[in-house]
Amino acid sequence: MYNPDSMGFSTNQIHAARPEPIGPAPLATPIYQTSTYIFESTQQGAARFALEEPGYIYTRLHNPNSDEVAARIACLEGGEAGMMTASGMGAITATLWTILRSGDHIVSDRTLYGCTYALFTEGLPRFGVEVTFVDFEDIDAVRAAVRPETKVVYCETATNPDLKVVDIAAVASAVHEANPGVLYMVDNTFTSPYLVRPLTLGADVVVHSATKYLNGHGDVIAGAIIGKKALIDRIIPCGLKYMTGCAAAPFDSFLIARGLKTLDIRMDRHCANAMKVARFLEGHPAVRRVCYPGLESHPQHALAARMYEHGGFGGVVSFELACGRERTAQFVNELKLCTLAVSLGDAITLIEHPASMTHNTYTVEELAKIGISESLLRLSVGLEDPDDLIADLRAGLDKIEEERA
Ligand SMILES: Cc1ncc(COP(=O)(O)O)c(C=O)c1O
Repeated sequence: MYNPDSMGFSTNQIHAARPEPIGPAPLATPIYQTSTYIFESTQQGAARFALEEPGYIYTRLHNPNSDEVAARIACLEGGEAGMMTASGMGAITATLWTILRSGDHIVSDRTLYGCTYALFTEGLPRFGVEVTFVDFEDIDAVRAAVRPETKVVYCETATNPDLKVVDIAAVASAVHEANPGVLYMVDNTFTSPYLVRPLTLGADVVVHSATKYLNGHGDVIAGAIIGKKALIDRIIPCGLKYMTGCAAAPFDSFLIARGLKTLDIRMDRHCANAMKVARFLEGHPAVRRVCYPGLESHPQHALAARMYEHGGFGGVVSFELACGRERTAQFVNELKLCTLAVSLGDAITLIEHPASMTHNTYTVEELAKIGISESLLRLSVGLEDPDDLIADLRAGLDKIEEERA
């Protein structure tokens, strides 16, 4: 019997929750490309619907590929249970639609992935849910924002796009002290459980865009929710089954299980490459500011060094050029190796312009308030040779510097 508690992270990302082989005993779990499952009798079907007998009913609720990968991610996150969704936004909405009702209140970090921000500013308020935005670097402000009707406290481990690091343990104890009923929800997409495990620091539920590092190959859209079994058992029949219907596709879950096998190796390389690129950018005169928690100049470097595991600081580096929006756009257009596309966590290095792309759901004033300028770029450092990436960036930056001289 496989015991994940006695195994290391690398072993668990491959072996945890592997089902017993059936039939000719394939090494890889077959893809259960089916929408529904056969019942032996009407009595069995009724018993499964009544949750009196375990077993598969319909892929919108459960599928062997999704269940396997969810249980493996839960193991890596240190959580009791997990479930997959069709996207990261699906993971966020399925959780919130299960927890919230009209009149409830959320306390959220001010800096978020753009679509999460739109959900909080435009989507949820339409259904009577109020959201208060606070800067999560200020723990006293977070505590003070919690009210009796606060149901959820929400943040990202490292903020998208500017990599501010949240002290998850400090936030967890502050908000639970202020209101023990609060569900502290952390989007751990940017770090993955290899670097940070929010549940072990006091968070109640973790969500992921599995589209990113968990899959790692840029060919899937999916999400994951990890938390207490009692919570997952509520989200599946409500947030997943009838509120969103956002079930993960079996083939996508299969691909994530495949990608997960190399999570630690990929993350080590993403982190090492990102560190090298960040140091290069910091030393270039055409760069005004570099956001990377691994740099000593990062305001929460000491916190990140304490909270991040395995000696890495993530694969995303954001940087602001010492020029205006038009010249920033030209710089990106002229890059040869770094590819202009949103998303992150891919083997291919991707660059994007948050103000006009992932964060265009913020107004110009709101972006200014969180310190996102029109010259800021988000670079998801891939697995290429870092010297080749640096050469690509250097060519464009040197040109800007020559023009400025
Ligand atoms: C931090 C973060 N959370 C959630 C999402 C949404 O994930 P998905 O695109 O898989 O819906 C993204 C997407 O970029 C993200 O960056």
